[in-house]
Order: sequence, then C-alpha cells, then structure tokens
Amino acid sequence: MNLEAEHFLKAGNTLGEGPVWSVQERALYWVDILNDCFKRFYTETGKFEVIETGVRVGTLAFRASGGLILATSKGIAFWDAMRGQLDFRIDPENGNLDMRFNDGKVDPQGRFWAGSMYYEPEVGKREGSLYRFDPDGSLHKMETHLAIPNGIAWSADNKTMYHTDSLRHAIYAYDFDPATGNIENKRIFIDTSEEPGVPDGMTMDCEGCLWSARWGAWKVVRYDPKGKKILEISLPVEQPTSCIFGGENMDELFITTAREHFTEEQARQQPLAGDIFVVRPGIQGMQEPMFAG
Ligand code: BGC
Ligand code: CA
Repeated sequence: MNLEAEHFLKAGNTLGEGPVWSVQERALYWVDILNDCFKRFYTETGKFEVIETGVRVGTLAFRASGGLILATSKGIAFWDAMRGQLDFRIDPENGNLDMRFNDGKVDPQGRFWAGSMYYEPEVGKREGSLYRFDPDGSLHKMETHLAIPNGIAWSADNKTMYHTDSLRHAIYAYDFDPATGNIENKRIFIDTSEEPGVPDGMTMDCEGCLWSARWGAWKVVRYDPKGKKILEISLPVEQPTSCIFGGENMDELFITTAREHFTEEQARQQPLAGDIFVVRPGIQGMQEPMFAG
C-alpha cells in the first residue's frame, strides 16, 4: 500500500529533525540542527515561532516538570522558557567540537537518550556514542562506534529498544530492561542496505508498528512488529528526516524534511524541501514520554 504526504507548513529548515507533539499546547516542536534553533507551530492558532539557541541542537524532548531537555553541541541542557535560555547540565563529549548531537528520545521510564556523531565531512568516522541521561542527573554511555545515530523507539511491551544507524543502513534491536535502562543483545532488526536511501528518524504507533523516515528515498516506511514492510508514504522531497503522530486525535503523522548539501538543481526541483508534511493514515500514535527530571 502507498499513501502520499501533503504539504503542511513552509518551515524553512535546512536540517529539520526530531519532531515532538505537545498534547497540552497543541503544538509541533522540532529542531533545525544546522541553524542553531528549534521551532514550534501551534496548530490551533497557526502561530509559528523560531527560537534561537546559539548552539547546534540535535534533538529535544519535553520535561514532565515543564520546559524542554535538549542535546546540543555544548552538551545536555534544559530550556528555561521564562528566561529564554539554556541551562547546561553536562557535556557528554567533553568539549569536543568535532562532534555534534543528532537524534534522541525519552524512554517510557522518563530517561533521555541521544546519539552523537562527527560533523561532516568526517561523518564517515564511526566514533559517535549513544548516551542515556537519567532523571537523577547521571550520564551513561550506552553504545560506541556509531556512524550516524538516528531514530530510537521502544516496543509496545517495553522489552525491546530500536536504534537506527543511518550509515550502516540498519535499524537495530536490543533487549531493554525498563527497570535499569540497560540494553543488551544487539542485533539487526531491519536491514536496508539493498534499498535506496538510509533509515533516519522514527516513531512507534498504537499498533506496535514503526514508522521510519527514509532519507534520500522520498518516503517514510511503516514496519510491523516483526519488521515486515507494510506501508510506504511518499513525499515530493528527497530528505524526509523523521516523523511523529500528533493533532487532536493523535492520528496525523507530521514529517520533518531537510535540504542538506543540496545542489542548485536539487533546490530548483524540490522547492518544498525543508518543510513539514502531514499524512492521515487512519492510525493513531501515542503521546511521547516526558523526561522525568
Ligand atoms: C543527520 C544528517 C544525515 C542524515 C542521513 C540525519 O539525522 O543529521 O546529517 O545526513 O541523518 O544520514
Ligand atoms: Ca535524524
């Protein structure tokens, strides 16, 4: 089966990524990694805001106590909405400016996970790590030698964690221990090496199926809990980066996109690249967990 995504919002992203839906605010948040900001769009009022952070933001999530947690090129920080500034907590890469954060997520127990990678053009260096930042402020290095760490999700029974490494063309599965946050028994869950593009950000729906954006292949792919491809959403742009369910009934899939390293010809042929798209596939998503610290 195949569906087409519709254009939703002129967003002006270079590298739009990591969308999250705020049920309370009825707003879509996302980051524009290479433009040092995050953005939000209130679907009821149509208000669109760009919030400059002064640092690269790879990913963000909501905090249960209010505000946001972000993984930035200067480390993990809280966003103080009152003062409009970042409150830096810990720098997992210890000031190494060759690295930046990429995708991340909060697990069902409220721990924040985020992966680091080398800036281009050194992106081929497989020296990124996956970090877990717990609500008590402790930091744990969970995985090393990653190339481009991307989409993370947990299975409906919370026993499996999925993690994407784009450059390795794979979505991996781990046994996940909800009580401790430990992961083990890494194996390949979905191998896309024979297909165009690379797997990027992803989200889980209410039926336990994964939606994985396929960067470079103009589509988002839905996989059933066994890893079988069951649906494709096509887009008029080449670099879909991630997706999240939102909207009043949690049945609208918002898709972020990019125009990274575009040639003039690509820019001419894909005027909507970098914008937000939407599709209503008749399936609901779940509210993302919030960081518990
Ligand atoms: C990264 C990009 C990369 C893309 C495809 C994104 O998450 O931020 O730099 O080109 O994934 O792997
Ligand atoms: Ca991504």
